[in-house]
Amino acid sequence: MKRKKLPPGEMGLPWLGETMDFFNAQRRNRLFEDFVDPRIRKHGKIFKTRLMGSATVVVNGSEANKFILSNEFKLVKSSWPSSSVQLMGKESIMEKDREGHRCLRGVISTSFGYNGLETIVPKICDVVQNHIARNWHIGGQDDQIVHLYHSTKVLTFKIVFECLLGMEVEEEMVDTFERVLEGVFCPPLMIPGSKFWRAKKARREIEKMLVNVVREKRREIEEERRLKKKKEEEEDGNNGMLLCKLVCGMIEGEISEEEVVDNVVLLVFAAHDTTSFAIAMTFKMLAQHQDCYTKLLQEHGDIRKSKRLGENLTMEDIKKMKYTWQVARESMRLFPPIFGSFRKAITDIHYEGFTIPKGWKVLWTAYGTHYNEEYFKDALKFKPSRFEEAIPSYVFVPFGGGPRLCAGYQLAKLNILIFVHYVVTQFEWSLIHPHEPIIMDPLPLPSLGMPIKISPLTQPQKY
Ligand code: HEM
Repeated sequence: MKRKKLPPGEMGLPWLGETMDFFNAQRRNRLFEDFVDPRIRKHGKIFKTRLMGSATVVVNGSEANKFILSNEFKLVKSSWPSSSVQLMGKESIMEKDREGHRCLRGVISTSFGYNGLETIVPKICDVVQNHIARNWHIGGQDDQIVHLYHSTKVLTFKIVFECLLGMEVEEEMVDTFERVLEGVFCPPLMIPGSKFWRAKKARREIEKMLVNVVREKRREIEEERRLKKKKEEEEDGNNGMLLCKLVCGMIEGEISEEEVVDNVVLLVFAAHDTTSFAIAMTFKMLAQHQDCYTKLLQEHGDIRKSKRLGENLTMEDIKKMKYTWQVARESMRLFPPIFGSFRKAITDIHYEGFTIPKGWKVLWTAYGTHYNEEYFKDALKFKPSRFEEAIPSYVFVPFGGGPRLCAGYQLAKLNILIFVHYVVTQFEWSLIHPHEPIIMDPLPLPSLGMPIKISPLTQPQKY
């Protein structure tokens, strides 16, 4: 039997451990600088600590990312706080193990295959253009102020609902979902008036609305099948692709109604703050690097010139946005929307001469590779061209890796690229607060919502 040698590190006070240091660093968005890095210097890339009552091992580096992320279900399983599970629902993909996970993942991924994405591109274009036309006041006063981060949050919400689920978004739905999301990392205390209490109430409202939508969709699909109006495969082209697939899975008896509802809530949660933060940081970096902006404008100008008036982008156009995707990836490297996530050891894990005991938590971090000179030369410099070279696996990990690699990666990419295209081909813009602090609550966000000044381009490239 192997002797247990725990990784070095400090467990701090009983229960509390080093939680306050962790939270304080997180709040300032200095988790790497003030919490992870000093401990790596003191103890090495693998260290133990205690966070929120749990003995935890923090692992850093591409080998460790690979070891932990690819051993999901075998050595570790994902581990979310009780408040997240209660609000997302226990049937959401994040709580699923092995077969249940594989089944749901299969349903979700088919919507993001090449055919699915090709159909979704013009829909995203329509949603983005409508959103901009309604909220960015083209043709109004010369200078307008838009809160970029907030605006893209609403936009992402619309994209998930209208393009993935085929549901019209009503104004109050955004607020209700926001209330749920606000409680996801709060203490799960049902004290009237608390964030968690409000979030649970909002979750019940959403559940009621979604159950009606799902049942209506089921009736529609069954009726269509009965009348043999549509062949099953034609349902894929249906407005609500993913919802349609989930409901079809329900009709076949592969998934339950509760699973459909919980996973719709989860998808909104997973897409919302992450994509809007990635977009906000892309614009922040472009504002600070004029040379990169000029190069990016050239890419979009060329694409725009190849389009007729009113013609939407296609997958072929998206493929031409190579430089823009390098800019977005470099922005996510420096500002990962998710700094890492927790797993739980389901058996004693032996790694690098240490034992991570069964039941302990494991935290992998994106910073451990993104900010490391070993993987990225001049790691703190913004250099989109570094993505011209292939990056070894498990080094660039804003979307995670292994069986739980982000299921919406392709949608996020389309959302970012299409949005950038319609903004830079129609507006001059500048940051109002170039040094606006980034805070974490608990995910990172620009503290003032990133207001930007916009005006129509002097030579507008009309759509
Ligand atoms: C820039 C935007 C995004 C980033 C940075 C991001 C990041 C991530 C990360 C790091 C994970 C893995 C978490 C873990 O290992 O515990 C994840 C999982 C996931 N993401 Fe994303 N995400 C983004 C956008 C989206 C979108 C747009 C959707 C769908 C509409 C989505 C759906 C999911 C789902 C369903 C999972 C869970 C996968 C599973 O457990 O198998 N994400 N995401």
